[in-house]
Amino acid sequence: MKITPHEHNFGAAIEGVDLSAPLSADVTAQIRQAWLQHKVVYFPDQAMSHEQLEAFSLAIGPFGDDPYVLAIDGHEHIVEVRREPEEDVPLFGGTWHSDWSFQPTPPNATILHAKVIPPVGGDTHYADGVRAYTELDHGLQKELESLEAIHSARKPYSHEGVKSGGGDRRSMTLLPSDEALKTQAHPLVRTHPETGQKALWVNPLYTIGVAGLSDEEGGHLLSQLFEHMRQPQFIYRHRWQPNMLGIWDNRCVMHSAQGGYAGHRRVLHRLTVAGSEPR
Ligand code: SIN
Repeated sequence: MKITPHEHNFGAAIEGVDLSAPLSADVTAQIRQAWLQHKVVYFPDQAMSHEQLEAFSLAIGPFGDDPYVLAIDGHEHIVEVRREPEEDVPLFGGTWHSDWSFQPTPPNATILHAKVIPPVGGDTHYADGVRAYTELDHGLQKELESLEAIHSARKPYSHEGVKSGGGDRRSMTLLPSDEALKTQAHPLVRTHPETGQKALWVNPLYTIGVAGLSDEEGGHLLSQLFEHMRQPQFIYRHRWQPNMLGIWDNRCVMHSAQGGYAGHRRVLHRLTVAGSEPR
């Protein structure tokens, strides 16, 4: 297995392994280690059936719970992220987020398997929450460590949110619900349960406030943190190829799907791996 890390060790290509075949315990451990170390890893040229994709996901951990998006028929844990050439609604996943951060136990990992990739655009950008945290001054780090952020699915997945996001004009079927109005508090700085690293753990899509602060104060703090996290030195810009499989660590990374491919189709298959309570 050949692992080629990117700058700052954030992101790495992994070659020389066939993910469509059952993986030995040793190879699975090497892949998990590389994923923990580089936070976003990808494997070019991995043609895989739905069943093989499910088997790989289960090698990383149990399936996550994926609400608000209709899964592929007969494969309740695989969602098709699809955009048709003429689709004019906001991009699915286009606002920076960490997957399902509004859940009590958000997913550890997300897996994307690329099927149809446009000739231009359609990249995914990743922001490293660990480096973003590390580069804050010590006083601010301490202050942030004592805070909890409020997360909710309301912006994209309440009835109002889905309607204003283009609802029935989408090729993906979104499933709005009043459940999306619920809120969930999580530490604003999260300690990774496997690496022990601390990360800024807020995101513009799902983090809607800060516990104990007014809407205005919380909104102001969050805007500053989002701006800090989105600085170019913390970002890895990922270019997809058909049959490439990517996996990232939602406990320390936020991501956003990019546009720039009007007139072209883009299709990827997505699964999440169950997680634990953020601490
Ligand atoms: C997602 O946010 O899960 C999808 C990312 C992408 O389509 O690039």
